Amino acid sequence: MKQLKLLNGVKKDLEGKKILITAGPTYEPIDSVRFIGNYSSGKMGFALAKAASQRGAEVMLISGPTLLKTPRNVSRIDINTAAEMFEAVKGHLDGVDAVIMSAAVADFKPKDIKSEKIKKTESNLTIETEKTIDILEYLGKNKKDYILVGFALETRNESEYAIDKLKRKNLDLIVVNNPKIKGAGFGTDTNVITIIDKELKTESFDRMTKFEAANKILDRI
Ligand code: CTP
Repeated sequence: MKQLKLLNGVKKDLEGKKILITAGPTYEPIDSVRFIGNYSSGKMGFALAKAASQRGAEVMLISGPTLLKTPRNVSRIDINTAAEMFEAVKGHLDGVDAVIMSAAVADFKPKDIKSEKIKKTESNLTIETEKTIDILEYLGKNKKDYILVGFALETRNESEYAIDKLKRKNLDLIVVNNPKIKGAGFGTDTNVITIIDKELKTESFDRMTKFEAANKILDRI
C-alpha cells in the first residue's frame, strides 16, 4: 500500500531519457599528498541524480571526491581531476538527452605535479598554475542533441554574470546560486536558486531542499 502511494506520487515524466550529471569538487594534485580543491559536497548533483532517476530517467553520475552514497538505480563513475571528469563526460555523451554540469570543477591546476611530498624545508612554496579544461564550454561548443545545463556560483551581480555565462557557453539553462545567502551553496542541504533560460526567462525560488531544487531544475528540461 505504502509503496503504491510512493510510486503514484512521483511523476515519471523522464522515462526513456538519458541524463548525464556531474557532481562534487575536483581535486587538482600539487604533490603526492596535497591538492587544490573546493568545498563542494556534491549534494546538489546527487539530489539531481536521485530526482531524475525517480522520475524515470537513465542517469549517469560522474562525481568528484565525496562521501555521499549513490542514489538507487544511478550509474556512477568516480574521478578526481577536471581532466578525468572531462574524459568521463566525453565518453558518455552518446545518446544523452541532457547534460547537467553541477560539479564545482576547479578552474586552475598546478602546472607540474611533484611526485614526492614537498618538504617545508624547501624554502617558500610558490605553485605555478594553469587553467583546467572548461568542460561546460566544450559541451556548448560541440553541442549535439542535448539540453545543456550549467551552474553559476556568483557572490555579486548574480543575474548579469550568469546571463553572460549562459550566452558565452551556449547553454540552454543556467542555475544560479550565491553561497553568501543563508541556506545556499556548498555543504548545505538547502539551496536558493534562480533558473535562467536562453530566452532569459528568469525564475527565482525561496530556500528549499536541494532535492526540491533538483526537481525544479528537472521541470525545465
Ligand atoms: N565548469 C566546467 N569546467 C571548468 C570550470 C567550470 O565545466 N573547468 C562548469 C561548472 O560545472 C559550472 C559552470 O562551469 O556548471 C560554472 O563555472 P564557473 O567556474 O562559475 O564559471 P566560469 O565561467 O569559469 O567563470 P568565473 O569562475 O569567472 O565565474
